[in-house]
Amino acid sequence: MTKKKIANIPFGPYITVLAGATVNGKPNYATIGAYGVVSQKPVLYISLKNSHCTTAGVVENGFFTVNIPTSDEIEKTDYCGTVSGNKVDKSSVFESFYDEAGNAPMIKECPVNYLCKVIQTIPIFDFTMFIGEIVAVYANEECLDNGRPNALKVKPTVLMDTGYFDLNNKVGSIFKVCSGNK
Ligand SMILES: Cc1cc2nc3c(=O)[nH]c(=O)nc-3n(C[C@H](O)[C@H](O)[C@H](O)COP(=O)(O)O)c2cc1C
Repeated sequence: MTKKKIANIPFGPYITVLAGATVNGKPNYATIGAYGVVSQKPVLYISLKNSHCTTAGVVENGFFTVNIPTSDEIEKTDYCGTVSGNKVDKSSVFESFYDEAGNAPMIKECPVNYLCKVIQTIPIFDFTMFIGEIVAVYANEECLDNGRPNALKVKPTVLMDTGYFDLNNKVGSIFKVCSGNK
């Protein structure tokens, strides 16, 4: 296998998610790839450009949500990453629901939803990284196996370079060295 040195660009892959926040009393969602875990604690981060409408909502309320769209919802997902709530009302693109633990909207159509309370913010260039403690998690019942989400039922979308991709197969189980544990 020959390695080729290519451009210093973060091509991915990333998981495509919708970051949610309440802005002026309404739900607003922005599509992001900059999301993930930071440790073994129930904590997630999102990184948002400071000029985004969603960013203002996270700053104002101290809560954000991470909503995992299925690859079936790619058009609406891409739309939320293309137009800004600063110019267009995106509050009815998806149906929203709430948990009493914090003021940030979650998306009914997304099979997995995390509600997070901001515990730390890190300015980075013209972005802000919001680190949030998970205060509620919701999942569609039909996507669960023994109370835990099954990725093939959740159908998350992988983002790499300029494309969106879906998941096809499970190829292994974590912490298992041998391959007979799928
Ligand atoms: C696939 C995709 C991934 C994106 N990832 C990010 C990201 O990680 N962070 C970010 O700040 N913006 C990201 N964006 C851009 C925002 O989603 C976009 O600017 C959006 O219109 C912001 O909406 P808002 O102003 O309503 O918050 C991404 C857009 C797309 C389409």
